[in-house]
Amino acid sequence: MPAVTVTTDQAASLRKLVSDSKITAAPRKGRVISITSGKGGVGKTNISINLAYALASMGRRVYLLDADLGLANIDVLLNLTPAYTIDDVLSGEMELRDIIADGPGNIKVLPSSSGVVEMAELDEDRQAQLLEKLKDLDDDIDYLIIDTGAGIASNVLRFNVCADEIILVVAPEPSSMTDAYSVIKVMASRYDIRSFNLLANSLESPKQGERVFEHLQKVSRDFLQLELNYLGGIPRDPKLIKAVRSQRPLLEMFPDAPAAKSIKALAQHIETSASVPRSLAETPRKDKPLRFWERILQWREKKN
Ligand SMILES: Nc1ncnc2c1ncn2[C@@H]1O[C@H](COP(=O)(O)OP(=O)(O)O)[C@@H](O)[C@H]1O
Ligand SMILES: [Mg+2]
Repeated sequence: MPAVTVTTDQAASLRKLVSDSKITAAPRKGRVISITSGKGGVGKTNISINLAYALASMGRRVYLLDADLGLANIDVLLNLTPAYTIDDVLSGEMELRDIIADGPGNIKVLPSSSGVVEMAELDEDRQAQLLEKLKDLDDDIDYLIIDTGAGIASNVLRFNVCADEIILVVAPEPSSMTDAYSVIKVMASRYDIRSFNLLANSLESPKQGERVFEHLQKVSRDFLQLELNYLGGIPRDPKLIKAVRSQRPLLEMFPDAPAAKSIKALAQHIETSASVPRSLAETPRKDKPLRFWERILQWREKKN
């Protein structure tokens, strides 16, 4: 596995304020799941969209945040032409509620702007502002799915730190696996995050996904002393490529396609594990009893 340079001081304040928590806000309903990866192009956006679609078709109120800042493309994949984006919220011209776009199957999309360098380089203050605004959506939602950028850039890691659950997407290729390990290593050592849900994508067989998981599990256990949770795999599916070309969710266009069935099963699994607080989960994040919204609040309070 590649060596990862970790700057432990960077954003140490966030980690500290999370672990020093004294906030006892009433638990809130919305469940925040970040979809992330080490390497780009492994299927994060398609999984985010289709997972959101599956949860929404189960009657859940689902928001989908395009947080692949700078390379945003949920709008393209859903054939939306949003009038406003998160950029307008950050510039203070719009409220988050004003930029919500109606996606297929009742998904509410918070679109982002592609090709805006400023967004890609979102600093900690502005990111905290954005996350705090997300808090205002809380009464209305069951799930907030965050489609993050790939890799270990600070803004990506911060979305993951703030989420209740992290789904790390990995493809069965050496580079995707080593990069996934880099994410795990940086998140564990910089932010003390110890709970990762692995989702293998573009598989030739279920066995291939299990091998990917076993490999990452072994190195994570040997070098970081942490256990990963395997969420299962999604097959490589030509129907998904067709759906992408048609700018429609796979689940809407080909609900019986193999990858669609896997994503529905994933949504069912997530639903049935919904009531398990993170601290009681199989691989809890140590010292992180706070919910997403509480972590954001604290972060903001500490910074002001
Ligand atoms: N399960 C799959 N089967 C077939 N192709 C896939 C699958 N998942 C992803 N792809 C291909 O990978 C491309 C990139 O997917 P995307 O969701 O945009 O990745 P990311 O958001 O991680 O960059 C898709 O356009 C599609 O061609
Ligand atoms: Mg993407």
